[in-house]
Amino acid sequence: MKITLERNPAEQIATGALIVPVFEGEKESHFGAAPLVESGEVAGKAAEFALLHNPTGVAAARVLLAGGGKAGRFDAAELRKLVAGAVRFLKEKKVLSAAVLLDGSRSSAEFVSAAAEGAILGDYEPDRHKTGNDKKSLAAFTVVCPDGAAELDTAIARGQVLAESQNFTRALANEPANLLPPLKMAAAAREMSQEQGLACEVLERGELERLGMGALLGVAQGSAAPPALIVIRYRPQQAASAAHLGLVGKGVTFDTGGISIKPSEGMEKMKYDMCGGAAMIGAMRAIAQLKPPLAVTAFIPCVENMPGSRAQRPGDIVTAMSGKTIEVLNTDAEGRLILADALAYARHMGCTHLVDAATLTGAIVVALGHIHAGLFSNNDAMRDRVLRAARAEGERMWPMPLDEDYKEGLKTPFADIANIGSRWGGAITAAIFLREFAEDTPWVHLDIAGTAYLDEAQPHMPKGPTGLPVRTLVRLATDWVD
Ligand code: BES
Ligand code: ZN
Ligand code: ZN
Repeated sequence: MKITLERNPAEQIATGALIVPVFEGEKESHFGAAPLVESGEVAGKAAEFALLHNPTGVAAARVLLAGGGKAGRFDAAELRKLVAGAVRFLKEKKVLSAAVLLDGSRSSAEFVSAAAEGAILGDYEPDRHKTGNDKKSLAAFTVVCPDGAAELDTAIARGQVLAESQNFTRALANEPANLLPPLKMAAAAREMSQEQGLACEVLERGELERLGMGALLGVAQGSAAPPALIVIRYRPQQAASAAHLGLVGKGVTFDTGGISIKPSEGMEKMKYDMCGGAAMIGAMRAIAQLKPPLAVTAFIPCVENMPGSRAQRPGDIVTAMSGKTIEVLNTDAEGRLILADALAYARHMGCTHLVDAATLTGAIVVALGHIHAGLFSNNDAMRDRVLRAARAEGERMWPMPLDEDYKEGLKTPFADIANIGSRWGGAITAAIFLREFAEDTPWVHLDIAGTAYLDEAQPHMPKGPTGLPVRTLVRLATDWVD
């Protein structure tokens, strides 16, 4: 999709549809809106759309009145959703080009960037494997900003990079497990890295054995598909920071649960158990283009969790790379096992700060639903950095506790630590387990089990992967100051 910035008045823009935000309680009377607003047909509620044909006094073929909710609450995140929803609405009507009007207080870089992102995100369809030629897509999108200042071209370019990388993550995450086993995921990371000029290395089984990654290898051993640890490196031309950020993403290409097998209902969604890893690959794609001032390395442990004849059993004891022994009481708590070794490896490679993202627990969905990701940290400054970045990008995350008391649950007489605790507070005990492997490195863990994919389509997003938290990770890197 081609995105352009236009400073001429909205009336002069020749396009398939001019999107005009309208708000609750505000009487928009331009662009032929008056009768619809008067009759109450258009109330300005979020995700409400009304399409007008042959509007008078406007060069556009149509005007799309798009509800933005309450004007006082309309921020960049709401605009992103409005534009994405409008693009999805217009695609259904086979409209091929559109423009959105941003004037007055909405002509800032933040809003312009969000509009470009909304257009690209709204254009994404999870139809890679559909045959036929009814692909839905908009060819061109214009951000109309008559009052805009000078730096808006950069804002559009940044928005484009972010949203394209988020879509890259969504497409990768949506690949089914038969087409994307660990080594294929590694090949996708390699291909992206080559295109973006990043260094990419894939550690295969022999190397993982040599490094002593017993926790990761224990999960992998039940599958015929071999494991891989993907490492992607970005190094700035001139580092303005001594920090080295490590991005660690769970890459379970399918999670059957292993011998502690999951119920069959809904199990198809466990192809999304690599969303954390896909987000790290997408974030590196954007980082390569936006060139932040610090070193960033992504580590993505990829395995398939299967109950094969060689699978690990409940009660097995494995030795992680850090030397700690783990009693595997439940083979379905596999994410923390592979992350334990990946976190240790990231530390070994010199990372000074760590962020991991993982579809780690059903318990976080019980706690926070599908609205907020759970955020855990061993370091207040690091937690605040990530929260700030998330807020700036409109990706909702909620801080969760990590008191020492929760550690009790992971005690076992047979090894240094067990991989599960009691039933309650499951997202927290999972995070406590990870903290043992992040050790004293400032670290944030994002449990995205409830937010990485949608079970049902929404006006602004199709069913499937959301691409969270790509934008937060990129913002974290690009805004970095020591
Ligand atoms: N991949 C799952 C977590 C998950 C659940 C992701 C629902 C997305 C939606 C993870 O590997 C898992 O199975 N966790 C178990 C842990 C339990 C055995 C302690 C869970 O949450 O049930
Ligand atoms: Zn599991
Ligand atoms: Zn899992």
